[in-house]
Amino acid sequence: MFGTTTRIWAKINVMYKFTTKTGKEIIIRQPKISDLKAALEYVNRLAKERTFLTIGDKKKTLKEERKYLADVIENVRKKKGVHLMAFYGKMLVSGTGIDLKGDVRMHVGEYGIAVAKDFRGMGLGKLMTKLIIAEAKKNLSGLKIISLHVFSENKKAINMYRKFGFKECGKVPGGVLYRGQYIGDVLMYKKV
Ligand SMILES: CC(C)(COP(=O)(O)OP(=O)(O)OC[C@H]1O[C@@H](n2cnc3c(N)ncnc32)[C@H](O)[C@@H]1OP(=O)(O)O)[C@@H](O)C(=O)NCCC(=O)NCCS
Repeated sequence: MFGTTTRIWAKINVMYKFTTKTGKEIIIRQPKISDLKAALEYVNRLAKERTFLTIGDKKKTLKEERKYLADVIENVRKKKGVHLMAFYGKMLVSGTGIDLKGDVRMHVGEYGIAVAKDFRGMGLGKLMTKLIIAEAKKNLSGLKIISLHVFSENKKAINMYRKFGFKECGKVPGGVLYRGQYIGDVLMYKKV
């Protein structure tokens, strides 16, 4: 289902090797602060594409991305979140995470994912989802529910989430602005 995946290093750090159907070698691991340049390039490619992400088309600055990455790493260190990044050589090609929401929602993790345009449709989205859910179950104590928001037009992502057992539980019609149009903001959840 996922091509070849090998867990090659496990203890505090997590690392997987994945070969796509087209023979591309992908390394999946936790983020580091030294990933900043790759992360900035990746997020700004997604912003330029104006894909189904809450960042929209807003280009991020180095300062903003450094803060985002530092917060992500800190959340992982505190076991309040799990994050994985996939690299093709030095290029960041996918990022995913589940972060505990905090306060009265400390048992709920918010999940997010993206795959770079040229690396979609190769099974990477499914693999990242499978791995991040496993990481979350292992590392986020008290986790009971994983929830996510998805744009109603994003059929591909909705299909994938359904395959992992996520259920749609509501929609705010017109809740997000996508390429100049107000479309539905769909909420999905899965019990773990
Ligand atoms: C959604 C996304 C993460 C999926 O990643 P991906 O690597 O392309 O997905 P995969 O190749 O692993 O395929 C996963 C599933 O997506 C669905 N899918 C993939 N391509 C599809 C298509 N053209 N039409 C409908 N469903 C499709 C299928 O359910 C597929 O499972 P299958 O191979 O068993 O049929 C990726 O398209 C993406 O990053 N999109 C832009 C950003 C985004 O939408 N992020 C999610 C925000 S909520």
